[in-house]
Parts: sequence; C-alpha cells; structure tokens
Amino acid sequence: MGQERGRVALGIAGVGTVGRGVLELLLVQKETLSKKAGVALEIVRVVDRDAEQKLSGLSNLGGLDVSSNLEDLLKPDVDIVIELIGGTQAAKDLIFGSLEKKKSVVTANKALLSSLGREIFELAQKQGVGLGLEASVGGGIPLIEVIRNNLVANRLDGLYGILNGTSNFILEAMTQKRIPFEQALAEAGAKGYAEADPTLDISGKDTAHKLCVLLGVALDFWPGLGAVYTEGIERVAELDIAYGADLGMVIKLLAIVKRVGRSIECRVHPVMVPERHLLAHVNGAFNALYLDLSCTGPLLFFGQGAGRYPTASAVVADTVAIAGGLARGVYALRPPGSLDGEPSLTSVPMEEIETEYYLRYMVSDVPGMVGKIATALGNHGVSISQVIQKERNEGGERVPVVLLTHKTKERCLKAALKEIYSLGDVLGEPPQVIRIERFAS
Ligand SMILES: NC(=O)c1ccc[n+]([C@@H]2O[C@H](COP(=O)([O-])OP(=O)(O)OC[C@H]3O[C@@H](n4cnc5c(N)ncnc54)[C@H](OP(=O)(O)O)[C@@H]3O)[C@@H](O)[C@H]2O)c1
Repeated sequence: MGQERGRVALGIAGVGTVGRGVLELLLVQKETLSKKAGVALEIVRVVDRDAEQKLSGLSNLGGLDVSSNLEDLLKPDVDIVIELIGGTQAAKDLIFGSLEKKKSVVTANKALLSSLGREIFELAQKQGVGLGLEASVGGGIPLIEVIRNNLVANRLDGLYGILNGTSNFILEAMTQKRIPFEQALAEAGAKGYAEADPTLDISGKDTAHKLCVLLGVALDFWPGLGAVYTEGIERVAELDIAYGADLGMVIKLLAIVKRVGRSIECRVHPVMVPERHLLAHVNGAFNALYLDLSCTGPLLFFGQGAGRYPTASAVVADTVAIAGGLARGVYALRPPGSLDGEPSLTSVPMEEIETEYYLRYMVSDVPGMVGKIATALGNHGVSISQVIQKERNEGGERVPVVLLTHKTKERCLKAALKEIYSLGDVLGEPPQVIRIERFAS
C-alpha cells in the first residue's frame, strides 16, 4: 500500500472536462495539497480511452503510469480511485471493484449514485474505506460534506434546489430577452452551457439525479429516479414568462423536497417563484440550494454548479480529506442520513401533493368557455384565486386565459383538467400547468 511508503497513491479514471482539471490541480499544487493532507499525494496512474492524447500539454507528469484499461486502477499500488469517466456500467464496475479491494473512492457520478448510492455507501462502510461525492451535486459549491458534517444537529424540513445550470441559463434568457425556448437553448449551446444533446438537462433528469443524491446523503432515503416526479422546461413558453412577470413571479426549474410527517415529497419541475425570493435571483448558469432546517433556519448556498475547475475543486477536496484520514489511520465513513433520516421514510405520491397552480388555456371564440372551465374546476373542489383574460377573441383566434388556483391536491386538479378536456377541441392545445411555490420561510 502506498501509505506504508509515506504517501497516498491516487489513480484517476477519465481525463475529460473534470478529470483534466483534477490532474492540473493535483500536479500544479502537489506540494501544498500534500501539506494540507498531511501526507504526500502522488498520482500513480491515469486511465482513459485515449490518455496519451488527453494528457498533452500537461507538465510535471513524472513517472505516472498511463493506461486505457480501467482494471489497472484495481492494482495494489493505488489507494484512492478517482472515478471521472461518467456513464453507468463501466463506472459501476470500477467503483464496486475498487471498494471490494478496500480502495477509497472519489466520484462525481450523480447518474450512478442516483440509482446505486445506497449500495455504494453500504459497501464503503463495510470495507472501512472513504467515499467522496462532493462533486456530484452543485459542482464547486460545498454541499454534501456540509450536509454530512456541519448540519447534523438539524432536521430537514424543506429543500429547494436550482441544480442544473443549462436549464437556469435558458429560463433566464427567456425572462430577460423575452425569447422563445428554442432560441434560448441555441444561445446556451453557443455559449458552451448546453451539450450537443441537451436532453438530460432540459428534461429535468439531471436535476432528478442530483436530488436523489441529496436525499440519500441528507435522509438516507434512496427512492430511485422512478419515485421522483420529473418534468422539464421544454413546454415553458414566452407567454408564461410574461404572465409570471405580471404576477410578480419568475419561472425556475426546481428540485423540491418537503417533509410531510414520515413521508417525503420529492419532485423536479418548473415552478413560479415570487420575485422577492432569493432563488428568483439565481441567474445564468449558476446553481443554488436553499435548505429549510430546524436549528439554523433557512440556508442558501450559491455558486458554479459545473465546469472544469469548480467541479475539480470538489474532487480535490474529497481526495485531500480521504488521503489525510488514510495516512492518519482514522478514516471512518459517517453513515448517510445526517439530517434526521429514518428507516421508514416513504415518498408522497405526486397525486397527493398540495400546491397552488398557474393554468393557461388557449381558448377559441366560443361564448362561456371561461365559465365552463371554472365550473369544471369547482366540480373537483379546485378553487380559483384569480382569472386573467387580457385579449378578446374577436377574430376567431385563440387567446390566452390564465387561472390561478388556491392550494389544491394534484389529484383534484388532474380530475378537473380531464373534465375540461372532455369539453372538446375548442380549447386547442393542452393547458400549461405550472406549480407555484411561496416558501414557508
Ligand atoms: N462536466 C462537468 O461540469 C461536471 C460537473 C459535475 C459532475 N460531472 C460528472 O463528472 C463525470 C465526468 O464528467 P466530464 O464532463 O468530465 O466527462 P467527459 O468530459 O466526457 O470525460 C470523461 C472521460 O472519460 C473517458 N472515458 C469514458 N468512459 C471510459 C472508459 N470506459 N474507459 C476509459 N475512459 C473512458 C472519456 O473518453 P472519451 O472522450 O473517449 O469518451 C473522457 O475522456 C461525470 O460523471 C459527470 O456527470 C461533470
């Protein structure tokens, strides 16, 4: 083992956006980071499909071994495996293989953690090794270790996260420039904030991955992606942004957790947020996490949620912490559930959540349509707080009608929408439904 020789040996898998940043930081700051860890940190092996080419331009590489075979990281000369290849199958084999061999692991892989986080934690604990996942949520913002260590005296009452910079950039561009979704998405791509295939980001799935990691870490609650209601931003229209502004609201893609007794609401969808709330001011590609906690009250974390150096900062921090623990022989992985996790938590079915809603129908020139919509809502106990119809449908054109509801169960709203649908095609496209969040604190 490396530490027997007075050093901790690091193996890195993946020299892409994050891996390259990690390598640069570890190479350039080798002396100071070793001092901070209290032990010499040495990168002994780097694995990538095309490592030679990806390492080009880096100096001080010393005698590190370069390979394209991930299994080389399982050799006895590596103490900490830093997994930065992404994806699920190969990363899963590497992480489980490393833990089985009693190697500590640092990973940024939220996709894998969202489905196998519990098993990974359990194995790391059983093997008595370190597990760092700070970079998997919020990039450079310290969240995971703060939740796991600094906030343990608290119970989590609410969590609201802007956890995907691409979606936040798009929604802000639509808000500031009053441009359609497609144009804002193209701008995000041109500025390097959106991938060639942005599906994971705009569908809300990337946010749901991160929400699953946060739930696991904070509550030892691992519902799996299937139990997190997930809706993306693809259907948010300029009209909704404009109506939101008139109502003093901003549209954000939020990850939401609320505690209802022993049950947990966990969902990801676009939300109308009051303009006065701090989350309404998280702009561009930035991320933020707003926690409602029993002792501290509300806490807000803000910063760059992705990118080479912000994410590498989190990976290096985990690596230094684990290396220091290994060298001192005192590393103990704290179990998840730092914010009052209980074994019997269950998720609240989406049909049972209760919130206010913004509804927008495009109504054709048929007398009494608004009255019929209101009646159908009333038939299911959905009470309306406001109706806005700015234009008259004189030329036979469809015009927007916006209705805001008081707090109601999702199940009742869905039943009312079904009844309205049965009124026929006079209503045109399906309604826009955006949930409103006014926040407890
Ligand atoms: N980018 C960010 O800002 C960010 C932020 C937070 C978390 N993360 C997470 O960090 C991880 C890495 O992301 P990234 O953006 O750095 O990805 P990336 O740029 O695609 O880098 C991944 C690297 O790993 C290599 N690789 C993939 N599978 C491999 C395999 N089976 N064997 C050998 N090499 C393999 C890739 O080679 P090829 O190029 O040949 O595929 C590539 O060089 C992901 O889990 C991601 O979700 C990223």
